[in-house]
Amino acid sequence: MSSTLAELTRRLPADAFPVIGGELHAEGVALSRIAAEVGSPVYVYSATRLRQRYGALAGALAPQGCRVHFAVKANSNQAVLALLAGMGAGVDTVSGGEVARALAAGFKPEDVIFSGVGKTEAELAMALDVGIHQFNVESVEELRALDGLARGRGRVATVALRVNPNVDAETHAKITTGKKDNKFGIDLERLPALENELRTMAGIRFVGIASHVGSQILSEAPLVKTYRRLAEAVRGLRDRGFAIERLDLGGGFGVAYENELEIDNAAIARVIGETVGDLGVKLAVEPGRTLVADAGVLMSRIVYVKDAGEMQFLILDAAMNDLVRPAMYESHHDIVPVRLLRPDARLVEYDVVGPICESSDTFAKRRKLPEMQPGELIVMATAGAYGATMSSTYNARALVPEVLVDGDRYAVVRRRFGVEDQIALESVPEWLNTATASPGAKAAAE
Ligand code: LLP
Repeated sequence: MSSTLAELTRRLPADAFPVIGGELHAEGVALSRIAAEVGSPVYVYSATRLRQRYGALAGALAPQGCRVHFAVKANSNQAVLALLAGMGAGVDTVSGGEVARALAAGFKPEDVIFSGVGKTEAELAMALDVGIHQFNVESVEELRALDGLARGRGRVATVALRVNPNVDAETHAKITTGKKDNKFGIDLERLPALENELRTMAGIRFVGIASHVGSQILSEAPLVKTYRRLAEAVRGLRDRGFAIERLDLGGGFGVAYENELEIDNAAIARVIGETVGDLGVKLAVEPGRTLVADAGVLMSRIVYVKDAGEMQFLILDAAMNDLVRPAMYESHHDIVPVRLLRPDARLVEYDVVGPICESSDTFAKRRKLPEMQPGELIVMATAGAYGATMSSTYNARALVPEVLVDGDRYAVVRRRFGVEDQIALESVPEWLNTATASPGAKAAAE
């Protein structure tokens, strides 16, 4: 049975989520204590693990002079961002909101890359005014808009063109971004047609190219292919007289959710060295998931264990609004009981579900777990990336809180945003249901 316990906790980094006295902890803090004091569901992050993940990647890429810009979309909590800012990271952002979040957490404008296919005029203007490091421009239409805005404000925007290298990232279709039929980037073959116009744009300082071909990439092949195409593009642009000094290689480095083997940092460093190491450009990567995924869990309490004859359901107090990845991408998250006190518990195949009124509110089907009781706590592993940032209040549920643990301390870093908070954002117009309201409705009411 001990092999089952090892099996259950295998996706949890032991420093971050150790089993102490038969009970799962976040570093030195018992998860049951956090549940009792903060409530559930709740995201719990390990500061130590965040430092380890960033430190390892940044360290591996340092010999290439490659800077790590954390993709804020993966986890935009202020405490997580502040921790990474303190370690010298940069950020990759995709909205004015993310730029503002990064700046509020302590990043400097010169740490900020602004990507995204649909930046609005207001977002571009804001980023111009704060003087960010780099705009990753995704279309000629955006380039013209940025040029106009910059000239109008007496500024010059530092620009990398995000190109679409038409490479299959060999990942889930919903997170593939580097193929011709995706909406992202400028087709590499159409780049030369842009060049004359680019030379005349006084509001644009064109310094480099950028790319990002997809997320949760698990093999080297798509990275090698992409980086080679980018290197070719840099050489071509230089031949045609452009002083290309930056290359942003994107993110997408996959992690192990189940039985996958994640790409290790040494392999990423080697691929970068071999493909673009000799270009003499300032390199950057923009990973999200790999830096935060396994540093976070979503903890939840079992509300009911429903015996439906053929089927056994674990009904949780967490739902798809708290962690949408399984419903949206059929993604796997290991499920681990917080108390591992009964080594002789028999294994049951459970469907693990939330309380929301649709069948997509399912975290796992036929998952083998030790027999569970209502009231017990579980965690869903590898939930630090695209968990809290994709959460919502669907079904008028609270926006899930977040906790950061560091050693034997913890803090609530996003408070629960409950239904009173939500109702307070809304209002009923005074003119609704007055005498002038629709006569049809009035008649129906009488
Ligand atoms: N840079 C750009 C321009 C991106 O679009 C993305 C992710 C990243 C960097 C970071 O990718 P990462 O290193 O995290 O793979 N919600 C999905 C993932 C969507 C990723 C979208 N773009 C999920 O939960 O799996």
